[in-house]
Amino acid sequence: MSLDQFEGRKPDHPIAAEFPARWSPRSFTDRIVTEADVMSLLEAARWAPSASNHQPWRLVWSRRGEDGFAAIRDALSGVNPVWAGRAGALFAVASKDTVTNREGAEVANRTAGFDTGAAWMSLALQAGTMGLYAHAMGGFDKDKLSLAVGLPEGHTLHCVVAVGELGPVEALPEDLQAREKPSGRKPVDEIAVHGRF
Ligand SMILES: Cc1cc2nc3c(=O)[nH]c(=O)nc-3n(C[C@H](O)[C@H](O)[C@H](O)COP(=O)(O)O)c2cc1C
Repeated sequence: MSLDQFEGRKPDHPIAAEFPARWSPRSFTDRIVTEADVMSLLEAARWAPSASNHQPWRLVWSRRGEDGFAAIRDALSGVNPVWAGRAGALFAVASKDTVTNREGAEVANRTAGFDTGAAWMSLALQAGTMGLYAHAMGGFDKDKLSLAVGLPEGHTLHCVVAVGELGPVEALPEDLQAREKPSGRKPVDEIAVHGRF
């Protein structure tokens, strides 16, 4: 897909093409996401930076056709299970809430969510290099997903990520077809200020 057809996807300042080329589609082809693909995606997530290199992210993955895939899909809410059920793989993205301090006590890791965001973005950008797309979903039932992935105590679920090859718009239910396009962004001066707020 060429981004030329999407006005709002043109960067205002020079950046690597990978950034605007990443987007979150809902239509996926039947392409199988192999276990080797999954390992490359996880490897990319693994190299994300984190405070004190604690690496708090924890991912639970399953490929289409596996029981675990169906369990994660069924924990999604709204229209998410309809399209994400066609993805090649699903990743439940969680983080460990605490770290062990120098005195051996478990203390809150204040940056766990921030660090885990970096890991998901690494996975998404890696997917792009493999001809795949990653789509994050915050729309899930927390209790169902916790049960589905066997979430241990002291962990927080952040999102589910669907990964697959971009499929045709027509494969989506009609109500989703109009939304199947890369979105725009606020200009830089709305998200950043020089000096101070
Ligand atoms: C944490 C998070 C939660 C999201 N939740 C959903 C969701 O439940 N369902 C959905 O269709 N898209 C979801 N999205 C996708 C966003 O809507 C999408 O990333 C945003 O509109 C920007 O579009 P782009 O990723 O195509 O650039 C989520 C994205 C993130 C990062």
